[in-house]
Amino acid sequence: MADSRETNAGNSNNKVVGVRRLKEAMAKPASTRIFTVANQKGGVGKTTTTVNIAAALSMGGLRVLVIDLDPQGNASTALGVPHRDIAGIYDVLMGDQPITAVVQKVAGFPSLDCIPSNSSLANAEVNLVSMVARELRLKEALVEISPNYDYIFIDCPPSLGLLTINALAAARELLIPIQTEYYALEGLSQLLETYGIVKKRLNANLELSTIVLTMFDGRTRLSNDVAANVRSHFPKELIDIPIPRAVRVSEAPSYSQTVMTYDPLSPGAIAYMQVAREIAERGKPKEEANFDSNFDSNFDSNVVNINYKRDGEIA
Ligand SMILES: Nc1ncnc2c1ncn2[C@@H]1O[C@H](COP(=O)(O)OP(=O)(O)O)[C@@H](O)[C@H]1O
Ligand SMILES: [Mg+2]
Repeated sequence: MADSRETNAGNSNNKVVGVRRLKEAMAKPASTRIFTVANQKGGVGKTTTTVNIAAALSMGGLRVLVIDLDPQGNASTALGVPHRDIAGIYDVLMGDQPITAVVQKVAGFPSLDCIPSNSSLANAEVNLVSMVARELRLKEALVEISPNYDYIFIDCPPSLGLLTINALAAARELLIPIQTEYYALEGLSQLLETYGIVKKRLNANLELSTIVLTMFDGRTRLSNDVAANVRSHFPKELIDIPIPRAVRVSEAPSYSQTVMTYDPLSPGAIAYMQVAREIAERGKPKEEANFDSNFDSNFDSNVVNINYKRDGEIA
């Protein structure tokens, strides 16, 4: 097994070989957590956040699926999954392929799968309009495979059209990446309004559970101001581990990699790893902290680390 700390940075001919797994496993949720990663602004870090958190959770021993719902296919590219001229999520939404037929394994990870986007997905917004239950196509397709995973992440296009609505209708949780830049919060009210409508009409179970700050530059007042603003409005939802603006993060996709394999010790990779671990901690079954009869042999070594958290309380 390859060492997860080995670095691939700078090796232009690199193919991911071996499998990366962390020594310390991440907490498994009681049931599948399905996240939609949405923000109708482009370039805020939706795709980067999706693929790196998914990769990190998979390295933590969890079974993870990424669904690339953006016609640009950036998540498929970053995960090194073929997507141009093959069947993908578009064909599933149109009812032309069963979802099991379009799942691909991501190389270099113990249990990370991807359902790629493809170029036809650009027609989905138009072609979905006339379909029966057009907002629920993804939700219905997911039923068959969701029990196979601990985490599913749906990477949305930069719009609030039918693709994003399908993602919101299919998910249990909404993850909003917020770029710590000027105008960062502009447009957020529109996204929250759409979230409210979907929750009311299509998916009462949907919760805005997670906010991640991206492209943070701690030296600038602006980044710190945006972070403070988000912290005050969303104290419960915010994962207060900002992802730094870091060149390794932006380089990784051109090598068909996540930064978790491209340069695992770089600041961006470390931050995404910590965010993933916090997501897993927040999602672990509450009973884990109870003393009951079915503790196992790990119990002794974990006992000092039990950090029982009530809702909203950052430990
Ligand atoms: N932490 C970061 N540091 C540096 N560049 C980043 C970081 N996060 C994202 N980027 C870059 O910013 C651009 C937009 O990110 P992306 O994840 O594609 O946004 P979105 O999916 O919201 O459009 C990409 O070129 C990406 O590589
Ligand atoms: Mg994207």
